[in-house]
Amino acid sequence: LNINENFLRLEKSYLFSETGKRAREYKAAHPDEKVISLGIGDVTRPLVPAVIAAMHKAVDEMADSDTFRGYPPEYGYDFLRQAIADNDYQGRGINISADEIFVSDGAKSDCGNILDIFGPSNTIAVCDPVYPVYVDTNIMAGRTGDDFIYLPCTGENGFLPDIPDEKADIIYLCFPNNPTGTAAPVSYLSKWVDYANANGSVILFDAAYEAFIRQGGIPHSIYEISGADKCAIEFRSFSKTAGFTGVRCGYTVIPKTLICHGYELSQLWARRQATKFNGVSYITQRAAEAVYSDEGRAQVKAVIDYYLGNAALIKKGLTDAGIAAYGADNSPYVWFRVPSGFDSWGYFDELLSHYQIVGTPGSGFGKSGEGYFRLTGFGSRDDVIQAVERLTK
Ligand SMILES: Cc1ncc(COP(=O)(O)O)c(C=O)c1O
Repeated sequence: LNINENFLRLEKSYLFSETGKRAREYKAAHPDEKVISLGIGDVTRPLVPAVIAAMHKAVDEMADSDTFRGYPPEYGYDFLRQAIADNDYQGRGINISADEIFVSDGAKSDCGNILDIFGPSNTIAVCDPVYPVYVDTNIMAGRTGDDFIYLPCTGENGFLPDIPDEKADIIYLCFPNNPTGTAAPVSYLSKWVDYANANGSVILFDAAYEAFIRQGGIPHSIYEISGADKCAIEFRSFSKTAGFTGVRCGYTVIPKTLICHGYELSQLWARRQATKFNGVSYITQRAAEAVYSDEGRAQVKAVIDYYLGNAALIKKGLTDAGIAAYGADNSPYVWFRVPSGFDSWGYFDELLSHYQIVGTPGSGFGKSGEGYFRLTGFGSRDDVIQAVERLTK
């Protein structure tokens, strides 16, 4: 018997266990102090009423032999694929049809599983700092350090990395970005689409934070960029859009026009999903459909506005404290350079011990994140207000 020795090359997932450990130790030593977490990467507001009503109705259907459903279709029920196509694409003038949409249990699994349809010898471009799933899933698939091109995202390039001179076969892009909170304009994404089409590369576009986009000129989908239907796969999620982190639903879009060596990538993905995935529950898909109703839309927008409001307050608080902060405009994430004299972990300890605020050190997301720090707007408004008071005092 052999194990997959690639797993031995993974770095220990140290970031959130270490921030949690330091926060717990601080609280144990200072039981009377209120420690506020602005490190939260999960949603905290409950599911909206329209979603809850749809779930209750679906549960009742499952209790009746006339309306009970067994295995769902592997790629999603037509009602949800059509609602996604109509609302997220056709309604925005983007030509994506229901049969190019593959409903899943979320963007994390799809971002990892997509590697099944690509060969082993590809070169991978990732941003640095980065959502660690992109790197770790490639290591599990056997890729090593030499197979990666790291694209530094720093204050100097506005956290929009330069297009590399060499060829990358697979390019991971995530906008609005986790962790930097940066949104990418059309002019920037067009450069990547042109690069991918010129080199025969594929862009894996993670749009998990699409719902936070509020400014004009920021594409909600990579398919708003001309030529993207020939080079890009898009991942979306109801997690941050509608509070589904615990419900689990997302989807992947692969246009039929995305062809590699004569093969439609959507057909490979369809085959992969039909073999290794058995679909998303009926109750969950009815819940996701409800996000697109008039009430559902208004209700989830109000929740996202709440998180955006938190992020804006944090950003203003940092700015008032003399720290240049980024993100927050189209993102729940606030990213900033730590004051001079600190590295990322040093500032973590400073924030915790002097302000009783927990955040996330930027270095935990990659080498170029050193010297930066991430706070999030996912907490409660009261906590954010208190934290900002402490920062600006
Ligand atoms: C960039 C990014 N992509 C994907 C995900 C995971 O989304 P899901 O809950 O749909 O698996 C996250 C979650 O934090 C994320 O930050």
